[in-house]
Amino acid sequence: MRGRPVRSGLAPTAFARACGGVAPTTGCRRADTRLRFAAPHAKLGGCIRATARHACRLPVNAYVAAPLSPTSPWVVLKFGGTSVATAERWRTILELASARRAAGARVVVVVSALAGVTDALKALCGCPRGERAAAVDKLVERHRALVAEMDLAGVERAEGWLASLRALATGADPDGEQAPDVSETGPTQYLWQAAIQAHGELLSSSLGAAFMTANGLATEWLDAREALLAREVPFLNERSRALSAQVQIEADPAFALALAARGSVFITQGFIARDGGGHTVLLGRGGSDTSAAYFGALLRAERVETWTDVAGMFTADPRQVPNARLLQRLDYDEAQEIASTGAKVLHARCISPCRRARVPLWIKDTKRPEFQGTVIAPMPPETAPSIKAVSSRRGITLVSMETAGMWQEVGFLADVFALFKQNGLSVDLIGSAETNVTVSLDPTENLLDSDVVAALATDLSKVCRVKVIAPCAAVTLVGRGMRSMLHRLSGVLAEFGRERVHLISQSSNNLNLTFVVDEGMLDGLLPRLHELLIRAGAMRTDDTALFGPSWQALYGEQARPVVQPWWRTERTRLLDLARRPAGDGGVGGTPGYVYHLPTLRARARALMALKAIDHVYYAIKANAHPAVLRTLAEEGIGFECVSPGELAAVDAIDAARGSRRLFTPNFAPREDYAHAVERGVTLTLDGLHPLRHWSELFAGHDINLRIDLGRGLGHHDKVRTGGATSKFGLPLEQLDEFVSLAREHAVRIVGLHAHLGSGILDANYWPWVYAQLASIAERIGSVTRLDLGGGLGVPAHPGEAPLDLAAVDAALMEVKQTYPQYELWLEPGRWLVAEAGVLLARVTQTKSKGAVNYLGCDAGMHALIRPALYDAWHPIVNLSRLDETATTLYQVVGPICESGDVLGSDRRLPEATEGDVLLIGVAGAYGESMASHYNLRPLAESVAIE
Ligand code: LLP
Repeated sequence: MRGRPVRSGLAPTAFARACGGVAPTTGCRRADTRLRFAAPHAKLGGCIRATARHACRLPVNAYVAAPLSPTSPWVVLKFGGTSVATAERWRTILELASARRAAGARVVVVVSALAGVTDALKALCGCPRGERAAAVDKLVERHRALVAEMDLAGVERAEGWLASLRALATGADPDGEQAPDVSETGPTQYLWQAAIQAHGELLSSSLGAAFMTANGLATEWLDAREALLAREVPFLNERSRALSAQVQIEADPAFALALAARGSVFITQGFIARDGGGHTVLLGRGGSDTSAAYFGALLRAERVETWTDVAGMFTADPRQVPNARLLQRLDYDEAQEIASTGAKVLHARCISPCRRARVPLWIKDTKRPEFQGTVIAPMPPETAPSIKAVSSRRGITLVSMETAGMWQEVGFLADVFALFKQNGLSVDLIGSAETNVTVSLDPTENLLDSDVVAALATDLSKVCRVKVIAPCAAVTLVGRGMRSMLHRLSGVLAEFGRERVHLISQSSNNLNLTFVVDEGMLDGLLPRLHELLIRAGAMRTDDTALFGPSWQALYGEQARPVVQPWWRTERTRLLDLARRPAGDGGVGGTPGYVYHLPTLRARARALMALKAIDHVYYAIKANAHPAVLRTLAEEGIGFECVSPGELAAVDAIDAARGSRRLFTPNFAPREDYAHAVERGVTLTLDGLHPLRHWSELFAGHDINLRIDLGRGLGHHDKVRTGGATSKFGLPLEQLDEFVSLAREHAVRIVGLHAHLGSGILDANYWPWVYAQLASIAERIGSVTRLDLGGGLGVPAHPGEAPLDLAAVDAALMEVKQTYPQYELWLEPGRWLVAEAGVLLARVTQTKSKGAVNYLGCDAGMHALIRPALYDAWHPIVNLSRLDETATTLYQVVGPICESGDVLGSDRRLPEATEGDVLLIGVAGAYGESMASHYNLRPLAESVAIE
């Protein structure tokens, strides 16, 4: 595997001699010999000669080290350039390594070069020989400054590397060879570059070993090239062989044993390895992450910890989506997919060594080690499919190839792909039709410049019609079981539907779905998609075992405050209510609704405080509980009713007697209108029929007219009330007829109304309705008020952004500047009551079927039909076990004889037993009011509490 017979004993002196000190037996130029790595410290015999300037702040081995046994695990810690650039950061490394050691692990620390040093070394390779000495001087200065900052008197090993760097760079090496000139190419030039660049890590690791040892943690310096041997990859060119090598690695217990005999804490270099000839080679992009993964696999470590400047992988790039959630757990494939489709925190290359060796990979934040981070490990089988991340890549080039009768031509694809190969281009995504094949080229995989693409197009034009489309962007949704989530992606598809999508590709491993669009479309797209995925339940952010806090919550200056639901503080009271026998005087028992009036009141006050709104009418269909109606009436809110029954419910409340009322029926019988007119209730008509056939009812009256503005919105198709497929509202093309009928019958249209759907979270919606209605009102003339309907949504899923009421108000005020002459009305239902209500249920039975765990309770679709009817998502907790760890994934079901009787799918809850009380949240709106006697089960009880 690692090939060279230098492994035994691993004494650094012997190893250095074998790999560097002795010239190879045949065929190599001396310059080549010089590029073999020789450890300048070899003569030191592996011990650390650094001394602390101030006679050691801490006695050596001050850190408590647990005794080790032959089976003590290895832990690999990796730190990047900024994490090793200051003495303070090194103290963190020291603490972390010491803590692992104290916990009984053997430790290997893998480090990058100090931040900026690799770039400086690369630049040095590219500058004329005469300028290299000055560049080396700067690097010497930089490293010596850190030595001073680390309070070390000097680091002999590092001085050795600085000397060898100078020799290699300037040609004044011990062999007297001249360093290659910039113009030189070929294997030697590339190996020389590799040898130069390796010095960054050789230096940082030498300083680190000295620092840790001087500060009490005896640390062995380990040359990574001892362990990592680049594999021979056929067809790899010389440059890649030297500068982007790959290592094939398997666990090597003998190596682990030999290393264990040498010490218990090691520090080694990321980014570097050796080739079959003993030369130093580099691992290319993401090299240090990859090295850590290789060491993890080689030692079959307990884990590899990658320490970086962010707590892990997120559901989207947090710079674009501050609301992105930390992914606390990922399997290797998902992590690989996220890393290769845009996430920068971990290089995709480093995942497969860990995957093969089944070594868990952690990502942690060096500055905030207390954050949980991301753990990449085999996934427990019991996880629901979910989209884990949405990512984007810019700079994609699409090549569309068109030819008639392509499929009849044997070998067409072989021919065109040969041309890609000839131009050194690797293809990412492929889409095909009968006469067209379109492929994408990713800039991270290809050196994409216009010359290369032009050369490819010229070659391709000989076999087909070619179109190059650029710049494009690829937007990828990643998650295991993508195909089973397609039905939830309608909102996402609608978002893409507004723009041109060039290519859609679903990966054959069922892990990703990619859309290639014009690059310009990317602005603002990711936050929208992220929100849509959460809202659609496709990104299961409710599963707190997988989805951690948002980036904003972890790092944001203005983190969105986490508002604890009222029922947390009312838990004891709720449990008490739930345990009362059902039907006990109408209070308590399960299934039962509980409404929290203080929450309702707060909601009412927030709406009444809107500057732009003149009157608020509560849509009582959402919840007609007497205490709810009373509370809202006391707050000065009016009532919007749709049936004589609802009008009677308001009439029954003393406090509501003087309240404003609205009657907004749809396809109601004549007598309903007559009933409302008799009572002097404001009426809203939404079609021609009433005016045409019952005009006598309305003659001499003022009415509102409900308009269909042509589109519907809302959380589900069934609650969208606009457009031709919806039965509501007067279509605009009938407006003139309605107006002349009204005139004819002396009916005054004083109000315009539009309600286009329910559960809307977009703050711009109501201002848009306002502007639409206002412009129509101008055509009619007699209109004095505009009713913007209801539809104000509440977030259902954890992490979903709530409706920004202040933004609604501000935007309405802006429209008001243009149309100040109208009174504004609003008629919300859900927003007032949803979060004020919960449904309590009792666990009846549990059952397992294969891998599926059912948790049965006495509240089924008869008590709450929203999940069955709209796929609505309600939070569910086990109130009896609120603080226990959620371990089991449940289908929460009711007692009704239908397979659709599911209140919640794939809910992670503590293991439940019969009699536990479940709480179903956000159930105050359209819960009790839509409940039924189905299966002749009694209606859920309800109670309001202060
Ligand atoms: N105004 C009119 C004319 C309405 O039809 C409705 C609700 C509202 C106001 C109040 O809408 P809200 O603010 O509550 O969204 N059962 C469905 C909701 C149906 C809404 C029917 N109309 C659900 O559970 O989601």
